Amino acid sequence: MIWKPKKDLTRYYNCYNFCMFFLGGSIFCVSFFLFMNPTASLTFIKANNCQVIGQQKNYIEQAEKYSILYINFEYQGKQFLGQACSSDLNQSDVFDGLGPYKFYYKHDQISCGSEDESFKQHSKNRIFQEDQKNEANENYRFLGADIGDDADIDEGESIDRGLLCKKDYLWSNVKIASWLCLPNNFNIADYMEPQSCFVNFFEGERAFQSGIDRAPMRDQNNFPLISYEQQAYYPKTHLICIIIFTYYNWILSLNTIFQYTSNAILKILQKNKLLIG
Ligand SMILES: *[C@@H]1O[C@H](CO)[C@@H](O)[C@H](O)[C@H]1NC(C)=O
Repeated sequence: MIWKPKKDLTRYYNCYNFCMFFLGGSIFCVSFFLFMNPTASLTFIKANNCQVIGQQKNYIEQAEKYSILYINFEYQGKQFLGQACSSDLNQSDVFDGLGPYKFYYKHDQISCGSEDESFKQHSKNRIFQEDQKNEANENYRFLGADIGDDADIDEGESIDRGLLCKKDYLWSNVKIASWLCLPNNFNIADYMEPQSCFVNFFEGERAFQSGIDRAPMRDQNNFPLISYEQQAYYPKTHLICIIIFTYYNWILSLNTIFQYTSNAILKILQKNKLLIG
């Protein structure tokens, strides 16, 4: 289409490539680093004797059924308390719910859900096991107390109840990305039995300490993050589409550079009579 015998459309070709270079490149970078990287970049190490000992449920803005799971586990011969999660969006698309790829921190903006009261019934807390030695009393109080959920959940400043309504996320210090969660309908009895799991000391040294101290996980920024899969879920077809339609186009757009450099090289070769043609 471009190189017709009598018509030079190189300018359009370059123009197209120029657009593709920026469009393809930026869409690829955004999708890759925004959607895939937060979960895919975490490395998980195997841990033993992982047991669910508590659960706190919330229906976050009527968009996601999310639970914090309290996990007892053993790592390098020491006992820790860690945090896992379950979510009905553990294998959902990028654009579902609040964004299953994303870690939310306290006061991050989330879109408001509907005000339907019946949704709030999802919120509850339970504890399964007491362990006096490990200050479980502390945890029991924390987990078992009726943690004024509703007040907590709805405290966020709503700016406007409309399509663009945003409010602060307040329910926990960190909401784990849903792609790292167990499914919402997991059989809790199975996970109360000791088994192996994977741990990432979320964002550094302090995670190790809060795990040993058995700090209340909902109020931690750094904690042992537990997953039952070594690798986070990601939507494979999405990733393939991103690669084909943005990354591949981006690479092709570099043709413009090669067109000029190869022409220049050809000219030099012709000058030196190394090539007849
Ligand atoms: C997400 O849920 C599916 C089943 O619905 C499960 O097989 C998978 O292991 C879960 N992902 C994680 C990270 O646990």
